Amino acid sequence: MNDFIFSNTTKVYFGKDQLQHLNEEIKQFGKKVLFVYGGGSIKKIGLYEKVMSELKKADMIVYDFGGVEPNPHHTTVNKGAALCKKENIDVVLAVGGGSTIDASKAIAATAKYKGDNCWDLIDGTAFATTNLPIVAVLTLAATGSEMDIGGVISNVELNEKQPIFGTTLRPSVSFLDPTNTFSVNTYQTASGSVDIMSHIFDVAYFSKNDQMDMLLRVQEEVLKTVVKFAPEAIAKPDDYEARANLMWASSWALNGFLFEGMTQAATCHSIEHELSAFYNITHGHGLAIVTPRWLTYILDENTAPKIKRMGEKLFNVDSSLSEMEGAKAAIKALEKFFFETLGLKSRLSELGINDEKFALMAKKACGKAGKLEAFTTLTPEDVEKIFRMCL
Ligand code: NZQ
Ligand code: ZN
Repeated sequence: MNDFIFSNTTKVYFGKDQLQHLNEEIKQFGKKVLFVYGGGSIKKIGLYEKVMSELKKADMIVYDFGGVEPNPHHTTVNKGAALCKKENIDVVLAVGGGSTIDASKAIAATAKYKGDNCWDLIDGTAFATTNLPIVAVLTLAATGSEMDIGGVISNVELNEKQPIFGTTLRPSVSFLDPTNTFSVNTYQTASGSVDIMSHIFDVAYFSKNDQMDMLLRVQEEVLKTVVKFAPEAIAKPDDYEARANLMWASSWALNGFLFEGMTQAATCHSIEHELSAFYNITHGHGLAIVTPRWLTYILDENTAPKIKRMGEKLFNVDSSLSEMEGAKAAIKALEKFFFETLGLKSRLSELGINDEKFALMAKKACGKAGKLEAFTTLTPEDVEKIFRMCL
């Protein structure tokens, strides 16, 4: 493993009575707050009112910015940033899932950028050097955005979905109340759970590099947590323990701890981001469709032992099987979990996606490097074949 520096500066309030601290936390950043949220779920669950009451206690001047779409658009970000500049906003408050928090991060960075288009900070035209502080109230366990340094934005004009990164984009404070996720439906619970697992698989677990045994074992425990609690949250949406476990697993999957020392492309994420860029599908569902096909495509004598180990640890696959047979059984078990236990549709064709754009999407997934370097190296031709396996 590589040398690494670990730092995570997000202050987390976890639990059901923690929002009462929002007022004291938010006011340390100034007076004017941009209150960012999505399509209205926070109003349905009464969270909007609770947040407003905290902002009132802190005597904040509130600028309401609702309507962030899933797979947030760069045009929405630009509108939010323009409002921040016009009104001299001091702090961005994100209340929602990954899309809302990601859009808030990009708004916070663009608000401090001399240009008016967030895409400049994403395509490398300029670099985000500073941003407004960000406070988050999480409502969906999935992306890890509540404790990480990235956000993902969609450019609907270019059909591109790309990340914005910056160490200061980590929320300064995040509120994680599992009861705010009781209303997340089966489909989003399933998709979010796959996303959590994929962050571990993609960024660290399926790697050709050696890694620290302690981290590998913690990765497996977090993965097992999702395998245990996602079905329980689906069966009983207001199961506090299940929701709490998923929420904390979401944060730890991508907050840096589990993958420091690793450098590799996040293969399935690169492939999936093309699907959500072109077809606006739910990120975690795309990952569920891609991941087992990717593992099947790259299965060989080098990759089999690690895939088999995943099966043994997560799904009790028989350890006496040969490496190759064990790995095949592991992939089958993963498919069973995603498509039967969690109930996600398994094929792109079921989502109305055909092969028309696969060649272009495969090229884009491999980016400027022209390849994805991770567990194995994939070229655009390989990625196109994986897309076809998902049809
Ligand atoms: O918009 P509202 O009305 O809030 O509804 C949302 C949305 O329709 C709904 N929802 C959220 N919380 C809810 C709820 N419905 C009922 N009750 C609640 N408590 O769920 C739908 C999906 O929300 P969204 O925020 O889009 O989901 P998620 O958290 O999965 O975020 C997905 C986005 O994050 C990006 C993805 O690519 C995608 O754009 N990612 C961000 C990452 C990061 N920041 O590091 C990493 C990830 O790999 C990922 O790429
Ligand atoms: Zn993800």
